[in-house]
This record gives sequence, structure tokens and C-alpha cells, in this order.
Amino acid sequence: MKSKPQNFWSTLPKPFFTLAPMANVTDYAFRSMIAKYGRPDVMWTEFVSADGLISAGQKKLLIDLKFSKNEKPIVAQLFTGHPEAMKKAAAIVKKLKFDGLDINLGCPDRAVEKQGGGAALIKNQKLAIEIIQAAREGVGHIQIIDRNEGVCMIKAHRKSVAEEGHASSRFSRYDQNLVTTRKMQKGDVAPIGGKKPLNGIFVNSTKGAPASLHLTGNENNFPVSVKTRIGYNKLDLEWIRALLELRLPALTVHLRTRKEMSDVPAHWEIMPEIIKLRDSISPETLIIGNGDVESVEDGLIKLKKYGGDGAMIGRGIFGKPWLFETLRHSPNHSSRSNGSMCHSRKPRRSRSVAEAKAGASGNPVFKEDRSPEDRLKALLEHTKLFEKTYKNIKNFDVMKKHFKAYVSGWDGAKELRVKLMGTHQFKEVKKEIMDYLKVEKK
Ligand SMILES: Cc1cc2nc3c(=O)[nH]c(=O)nc-3n(C[C@H](O)[C@H](O)[C@H](O)COP(=O)(O)O)c2cc1C
Repeated sequence: MKSKPQNFWSTLPKPFFTLAPMANVTDYAFRSMIAKYGRPDVMWTEFVSADGLISAGQKKLLIDLKFSKNEKPIVAQLFTGHPEAMKKAAAIVKKLKFDGLDINLGCPDRAVEKQGGGAALIKNQKLAIEIIQAAREGVGHIQIIDRNEGVCMIKAHRKSVAEEGHASSRFSRYDQNLVTTRKMQKGDVAPIGGKKPLNGIFVNSTKGAPASLHLTGNENNFPVSVKTRIGYNKLDLEWIRALLELRLPALTVHLRTRKEMSDVPAHWEIMPEIIKLRDSISPETLIIGNGDVESVEDGLIKLKKYGGDGAMIGRGIFGKPWLFETLRHSPNHSSRSNGSMCHSRKPRRSRSVAEAKAGASGNPVFKEDRSPEDRLKALLEHTKLFEKTYKNIKNFDVMKKHFKAYVSGWDGAKELRVKLMGTHQFKEVKKEIMDYLKVEKK
């Protein structure tokens, strides 16, 4: 029996690239642009409040969890300070057919911290762990919560599993073999990722009544990952250790402390220590480095120098939805072109700087810069999509930080930018840009 659950994380090329979650930036409209012009290996939604998602305001928040097939694999990010809310919201994320759930344990936003979520949880590790476990429960993982003289106590969540039709709760025999071959420990996820249905898992539920779960295939392999920082006020490798002990499928580390916000260069030099810890505690956990990665090329160089399985890019993508285009040109592209990477079980072969530089055609492909015309065309397409998706839902001003990013770097950009800052809808943006292009052509 395979002890390692399979999920999309184990199918990614090495190293791989992910889009950072950025509130009010990487929304459905911008991600659609990115999916079209240069999809990363993994997409992330903006963060969403787990408390909000299970409240009366759910409908409004579900808009932030809108995604399309073209974005897959895509991970939804949630934050909260409340395990119960996380458990329920995690089940919703799974139902929405995301490829995974990510928990935000690093956001320095005061409003988020005040609710006990984000970076505040770095200071409350016990609660952070409870929240991660609650998320796992919410998506239907079976977790080992105790061991008692060789008898494994398994905490299962029959309700969430049964609701999806993969479980029945009749009594059954304890499967000794299942436990002993797994050498399960506290925090482990039960081996329900094999190809065969695993019947007869003994469940000593929290209420004391044993029950049998009939689980099939990979249904319960829904991965729960974490994104965090290297500490609160200072580097805290014990925090990273505590997270690794949970054997997460993936851990994204923004290489700054909470206190540093984004005001200092990211500490990529810490990465070798993190990798060493990972290798000794949880070799299967993928480590994603984050902070100041400007491009795919830059990421490949940083990963080669400092280590890490993947790189996450945030601000580098502002105004450049084609940033990850290089990945399409790499020799791994054919396997990614159908919009889904989740079907192959084999990890793809490795990527190198030289390989990505050469591209499939042998031509250099690190061409992130585009002509002003191309940038303006992308801006128009993005704005139209934003308006179509969010009219009367989101403030049009959300687009303005994109305007700044698209319209920069050439003579005359500033004047156009000023005009665009005064617009309120797509029609006005289009007029400004058409007028600008007409004058430019004269
Ligand atoms: C506008 C903005 C919004 C962000 N929102 C989120 C968020 O919703 N969730 C999260 O985990 N991090 C968020 N971050 C942090 C980024 O994901 C990333 O960790 C950070 O920007 C460092 O990466 P970079 O140097 O590549 O930008 C946000 C950052 C920015 C600039």
C-alpha cells in the first residue's frame, strides 16, 4: 500500500512556479488574463475570510472564489482565527472543485490580525495548528489523533464525506494491517490515496462510537497547504519546524518576518536552512520560496542558488500577465497545454535556466517586455473583463493599480496614466487609449 497520498502537488515539474495570492489584484479578471497569456504551474485565489464564507455574507465572498477551468490547478486561500469556521469553509472550498486549499498564516494586515488570522497565528502556534487540522477535517481527511497500544484512534468526519456519497457509516472490523504498515503518527493523514477503495478503516470517533468508512480513490486527497512568513518579529525556525511536523504537501515561505512587512529584501539566504529542516522532518513537503522574485529567470536563478522546489511570484506580475509565458515555451509545455496538470501521476522532468532560456524553439524566450501598443491592448482587454465580471460589485478603482503598471516605461506614459486615473468605466478607458494611439500614429 502506498503511504504517500497523491495530489496535484506531486505532478508538478521541478522547479515550478506559482502565482502569489494578492487581494484586489489577482482576482478572476487578472487571473483570466494570466491564464491566457502565460499560465503559471499553480494559480492562487486572493485570500477569503473563512468566517465570511460561512456567514450570511457568503454570496458576496463566493465572487472572490470564482475561477475557470483554464486556471487549473488552482488553490483557494482562506484566513481565519477560528478552527470551526475553517472546518466549514474548507468543506465549501472542496465542494467548489478547487485543486487545493491554502491557509494564510502570514498576512500582516491589521484587520486580518485583529480577527486572529494571518500573521497573528505565528504568535499563537497552538491555534494555528488547530486551524490547519480543522481545515483537514473540513475537506474530509482522516487524521490520526492518538495512538493507544497499537490501536490507532482515527478522527474522521463522516458527515462531510458521507454528504459527497463516499462513505457509509456501518460498523466494521479494525484493519490492523492498515495501521501497522503505515506507522502512523499524530498528525498523519490516513492512506486513502491509493487506487483501490479502502474499506473497513476502523474509526474510533470522538463521540466514542466506532464506525466504518468506505472511501474510494483519491476523493480525500484534497491537499491543504500553508503560506507563511519566517517569523513574527524575528527569524523563527521553530515556527517552520512546527509547520513541517504537520507534513503539509506544500509550504510557501515568504522570506521576511511580519515585522519586516515588504520593506527589506527577502531573506533568500535562509532558504538552505529551511530546506535542511524540511529534509529532516518532512521530505515530502514541497517548499515554495517567495519574495522579490521578478521573473521566471530570476526565480530559476534564486532556486538554484538557495534551494526550494518552486517559486511564487507576486508583485513581479503587475502589468505583465505574460510573465509566466516562458513556462509554455519550456519543453514541458505540451503536458500543460490542455489546461490541466492533474491527470498525470509522474513528476515532470526538471527545469533549468538554460533550458527555459532556450525554449522549445531554441530561441531565447525571456521577453517580458512588450511594446506600448501591446501593453495598452492588454490593459483594454483586462478592463473589459473586469467590468464584465464585477460591474456593480467591485469598485472600478481596483483597476487603477493595474493602469499604473501597464502604462509605464515609455515617453508619454505618464500623461496617459494621469488621464486613465480619472476614468470610471471601460468606455472611458477605451476612448482615452484610442485617442492616445491616434495621436501617436500621426
Ligand atoms: C496587493 C497585495 C495583496 C496581497 N494579498 C495577499 C493575500 O491575499 N494572501 C497572501 O497570502 N498574501 C498576499 N500578499 C503577499 C504576496 O502574496 C507575497 O507574499 C508578497 O507580495 C511577496 O512576494 P513578491 O515579492 O513576489 O511580491 C499580497 C501582496 C500584495 C502586494
